[in-house]
Parts: sequence; C-alpha cells; structure tokens
Amino acid sequence: MKKISIFNQKGGVGKTTTNINLCAYLAMEGYKVLVIDIDPQGNTTSGLGIDKRSLEMSMYDILTSSTPMEDIIVQSQILENLYIAPSKMELAGAEVEMTMSENREIILKNKLKEVENDYDFIFIDCPPSLGILSINALTASESVLIPIQSEFYALEGVGQLINTIQLVKRSLNKNLDIEGVVMTMYDARTNLSNEVYSEVKKYFKDKVYETSIPRNIRLAEAPSFGLPILLYDDKCKGAESYAQLTEEFLKRQGVKNIG
Ligand SMILES: Nc1ncnc2c1ncn2[C@@H]1O[C@H](COP(=O)(O)OP(=O)(O)O)[C@@H](O)[C@H]1O
Ligand SMILES: [Mg+2]
Repeated sequence: MKKISIFNQKGGVGKTTTNINLCAYLAMEGYKVLVIDIDPQGNTTSGLGIDKRSLEMSMYDILTSSTPMEDIIVQSQILENLYIAPSKMELAGAEVEMTMSENREIILKNKLKEVENDYDFIFIDCPPSLGILSINALTASESVLIPIQSEFYALEGVGQLINTIQLVKRSLNKNLDIEGVVMTMYDARTNLSNEVYSEVKKYFKDKVYETSIPRNIRLAEAPSFGLPILLYDDKCKGAESYAQLTEEFLKRQGVKNIG
C-alpha cells in the first residue's frame, strides 16, 4: 500500500488529468486504487463519472465531522478496482471550519488509517493552493507526484512548492518523498518544450519521468463524458502516454507490470 499526493499549487497544470488517468490504468492493471478528491472543484470526481449532485456525503464530512471514510467512498461504475472518495463545492467551507480544530493538519492522515490497508494505491488530488487541504494531503502521503506544464514559466512557483514539501517534512511528515515529476502538455517538436524539459531535469534530476504527456485534445474531452482516456479513446496519443507513464510509475515501485 502506498499513498501519493498529486500536488502543484499552480492550477491547470494537469494534476487532475494525471490523477484520473494514472489511477484508471493502475485499476485496469488489477491494482485496487482509491482516489481521494480533496479539491472543492471536484473535477476528479466528475471526471471519473460520479454525479456530484447525487452525493449525500463527500470529503467535506470527513474533514469536518467524525464521519468514517467507508461512509463516503463510492465504487466506480466504470472500472473494477477503482474507488473514489468524492468532493464537491461544499469542501471549500471545510478550510474555514478546519482552522478552528486542533490537529487540523493530520485529520486526513488519521481518517485514512481505517481504510488504507484495503488498497494497493491511494492517490490524493490536491487543490491549486498551499492551504490546509493540501497540507492534509501531504501529511497523509508517503510521496508527492508533481505534474509540471511545459510552458515558459514552468519553474516559476517550483521554489514555493519545494518549500511547502520541506515544511511538511520538517514538522509533520519526515518521510515525505518526491515520487516523480511529470511534464504535461508537452510538445516535443518545439524548442520551448525541450528547453523546459532540460530546465526541469536540471532541477529534479532523475525524479523526472522519461514519459512526458503531450497536449492532446482527447484528454481534455474525456472528462466531460465522465471517462478516463482508456475508456474514451485508448488509441490516442494521450492514452498511449498515460499508459506508458503507468508502466514507468510501476517500475519505480519495483513491481512487475502484471498486465
Ligand atoms: N495533456 C493535455 N492535453 C490537453 N489538455 C489537457 C491536458 N492535460 C490537461 N488538459 C486540460 O487542461 C485543463 C487543466 O487540466 P487539469 O488536469 O484540470 O489541471 P489541474 O488539476 O492541475 O488544475 C483541463 O481542461 C484539462 O482537460
Ligand atoms: Mg485539478
């Protein structure tokens, strides 16, 4: 069992797309995966085919009351082995409520203890902020997977991101590790993408995955159908790249691909 946060305080860099698709491929490979959506936007929740309006409870209840995880986890209707702890807009209110509670940084970590051994992987999709929701995710995780968009300002904000990880390491979770860094919306034909890749490589060294995710319209379309790319268009470039990233991810775990 391993718990991994998908984190970058910048919005729109591909956190949710990476979470949805990496988890879907892992589930397809036969791993039992729990996806925790801790972003009030709830894009992971809807992108995995869950109708947010139908939810009675969400991560909000986990973080603000004694509700146990098993009460909110829903089984995916589209992929066996995939489970979701959903989020909806009300989660935005949790930030304020949590600032009043004691031990507010370790609520998620403690709640996960009840269920974590039921899964092979637990992925937490963070909101685009350095606030208490992200701190809870980082505190509950063994490692952080960082998507970085291949753009001119790619490394802007990375210092802050690393500071946050260091801060959590020092005070709350000394074993927190960087799982890997994945370049998203990458265009191998442009000098810019290549330059950004080498910059990121200089900074993160062998933490950077060899697989980069290209800009691919199918990846952007799939969530509106509530489908991961492997069920929407498993032959497109986006699907191929996430399948390859999954292989690389598994290799780093030291496990053989069982597919
Ligand atoms: N590789 C990609 N190619 C094309 N569009 C993408 C790609 N990755 C993400 N997107 C789109 O970009 C937007 C932001 O991506 P998202 O995964 O939601 O980022 P974040 O969770 O970091 O805010 C979404 O509309 C998403 O569909
Ligand atoms: Mg997101």
